[in-house]
Amino acid sequence: MMENPFYITGIIPEPYFCDREKETAWMVRTLGNKAHILLTSPRRMGKTQLVRHVFEQSSIKDNYYTFYTDIYPTTSLNEFVLFLSKEIYAVLVPKGKTVLDKFLAALHSLAGSFGYDPISNTPTFNIKLGDIHSPELTLEEIFRYLEQADKPCIFAIDEFQQIANYPEKNVEATLRTHIQKMNNCLFIYAGSNRHILENMFNSAARPFYNSAEQIYLDCIPKDIYTGFAAEQFVKTARSITPEALSLAYDLFEGHTYYVHNVLHNAFAYFDSDKVLDEPDINKTLSDILEEKGRTFAMVMNQLNYQQKETLVAIAKEGKVSGVTSARFVKKHALKSPSSVQYAISILLEKQLLTYQSEERTKVYSVADRFMEMWICKTY
Ligand SMILES: Nc1ncnc2c1ncn2[C@@H]1O[C@H](COP(=O)(O)OP(=O)(O)O)[C@@H](O)[C@H]1O
Ligand SMILES: [Mg+2]
Repeated sequence: MMENPFYITGIIPEPYFCDREKETAWMVRTLGNKAHILLTSPRRMGKTQLVRHVFEQSSIKDNYYTFYTDIYPTTSLNEFVLFLSKEIYAVLVPKGKTVLDKFLAALHSLAGSFGYDPISNTPTFNIKLGDIHSPELTLEEIFRYLEQADKPCIFAIDEFQQIANYPEKNVEATLRTHIQKMNNCLFIYAGSNRHILENMFNSAARPFYNSAEQIYLDCIPKDIYTGFAAEQFVKTARSITPEALSLAYDLFEGHTYYVHNVLHNAFAYFDSDKVLDEPDINKTLSDILEEKGRTFAMVMNQLNYQQKETLVAIAKEGKVSGVTSARFVKKHALKSPSSVQYAISILLEKQLLTYQSEERTKVYSVADRFMEMWICKTY
């Protein structure tokens, strides 16, 4: 079977990574200047892949220990500490027993909680959340360890906005205080909630104020993306019309994951001697929507009537501002501005909606573009 050049999960091997040249150069340069980075973009635009790509650059790879953790699932400082230490452990494992022992020894507060693998003769990391009794202390130990590592470190923390929801007091201030004291470790704070993150870094009253260089990741420009995609087809002795590539891009205004997903499936479904054209792209998309429709239907099933009609109204509009205006409420036969307001707060919490702040208004859209299309077809 021929390898599918359009990766939609996991780490993208270098030949299949598209563009991001300017962003990569900027990030490498900024880290070289010893500055921390705040990287934001809508979900599924390519932040995680960009960070991994930056870590693969030789000037980074050869000179730093690089760590990456996605704290999206975390809701407490305990979990945060667990995620950081698990990642450090995972990176150090291949480096051997001495290095590992040193790390585990640094974690005094967890002493006695590690396992031991008699076959490989190495300690194992099987800390459970309940083992972390004083997360602030463990955090301090982790940072102290990074600070005295034999190479400088870069720690990327994805979906960093999560820390703003932790119930513990002063998490932001505590973290910032530690980080400020470090000379050996740079941080890449990434996340898709631009609004929360920019507030964190741009409000003078907040601990992280002005503490990172900021970059916003947008779509890959159309000519670059379609050029890259065309090349992938040529390399695998396959063909696709320029119109089909253009359509795949425009369907999602270049939103990386969605365009990539359609091309991945089109590449996989059709015979290798078929020249893919626009109907093939449309067929691929409707197959995707049908397949994902089962999950979307289950999600809809969990919503109450008001949430549902609000979500449908927003899907039909694509991008909406003024959701609580009389005009919007009337146009979509919704109950009242206040019921819409409430439904939206739940839909945001469930991550079914997302918004961008433009000027002083919020512009809402359905978070998942496939779901948006499915709703428009179904309702
Ligand atoms: N530079 C790229 N080259 C190829 N595919 C990409 C690139 N950036 C993103 N993608 C595609 O988009 C998907 C989502 O990217 P990801 O980095 O996980 O987004 P984010 O972290 O912003 O949510 C990837 O799995 C991949 O399919
Ligand atoms: Mg990500």
